[in-house]
Amino acid sequence: MNITLCCTDTKTEPWLEGLRAALPGASVTVWQPGAPQADVAVVWAPPQQFLDEQPALQAMFNIGAGVDALLRLRIPDGCRVVRIDDGGMAVQMAEYVCHAVVRHFRELDAYEADMRDGRWGFRKPRTRSDFTVGVMGLGVLGERVARALAHFEFPVNGWSRTPKALEGVRGFHGPDAFNDFLAASRVLVNLLPLTPETEGIMNRGTLSRLPQGGYVINVARGAHLVEEDLLALVDSGHLAGATLDVFRTEPLPPGHPFWSHPKIVATPHTSARTLREESIAQIVRKIGQLDRGEPVAGTVDRARGY
Ligand code: NAP
Ligand code: GLV
Repeated sequence: MNITLCCTDTKTEPWLEGLRAALPGASVTVWQPGAPQADVAVVWAPPQQFLDEQPALQAMFNIGAGVDALLRLRIPDGCRVVRIDDGGMAVQMAEYVCHAVVRHFRELDAYEADMRDGRWGFRKPRTRSDFTVGVMGLGVLGERVARALAHFEFPVNGWSRTPKALEGVRGFHGPDAFNDFLAASRVLVNLLPLTPETEGIMNRGTLSRLPQGGYVINVARGAHLVEEDLLALVDSGHLAGATLDVFRTEPLPPGHPFWSHPKIVATPHTSARTLREESIAQIVRKIGQLDRGEPVAGTVDRARGY
């Protein structure tokens, strides 16, 4: 089997070594323009030229969970797209979101500021039942996050495209239930894939439906959020603030208001990182399944967009 690697913004050498060690019978090389046709590819944000020069790929393994950047390219018809499902990302996402929710709920920012100022004082404990957390997207990551939040005894809502029955999670599905889901969620967590249906889904209209004092946590893609609308709703006092890990432009441009806004916590797209060893093991397992004609988890439905 010939495997080609085409990963931008990624240190390629350790992937090459890891794949060669795990698949000693295969030829694994880094793609260069003009390279011969491979059987499968391991990719992250490849250029269109790569796909144009590899028209007979059987499969492309995306080394992240989100395939939005990949699906914007012209992909050969017969090429299956497979993404990383979990691979150690779900527990990282659960840590990150629980941290953000608890930090907000327990007013830890304010306590840290007090301690810096030498002030010893208590705030009235907030009521957990007033802090329902709504998770948009109940897939591999969203489900794990919803379960982790329920463990802290937050009331949890979940919104997905198709119905889901998760213990401890009040389920909403489809566009008709979206407004009810928003109105019932004090904290909104976004774990949707970026598709034509979900782009800009967090905007003035939808975020205004969150209760007064609502809080937004975006850990999916920057293009899900209309950034000016969020800022306006935070500045007007309707929203209490936000924790954002993803942005319309990454890296976040110098001078962007999110760098210094007192009610916004920003991190550099790091809530759930691809873990190389786990991902290589997963890709190798899936190449075996593909070879044997077995179902492969994480196969992307290109028409659906995720
Ligand atoms: P996934 O398993 O494909 O789950 C997607 C979920 O979104 C599913 O529950 C799906 O509903 C729901 N959904 C899709 N379109 C919808 C729509 N139009 N209306 C309502 N629900 C919709 O994806 P995942 O592995 O959990 O990953 C989610 C996203 O997280 C990725 O696409 C990526 O963008 C982002 N991510 C970010 C980071 C980071 O570091 N910030 C890391 C990894 C991933 P159904 O269940 O009904 O199909
Ligand atoms: C990261 O954002 C991913 O999609 O894996």
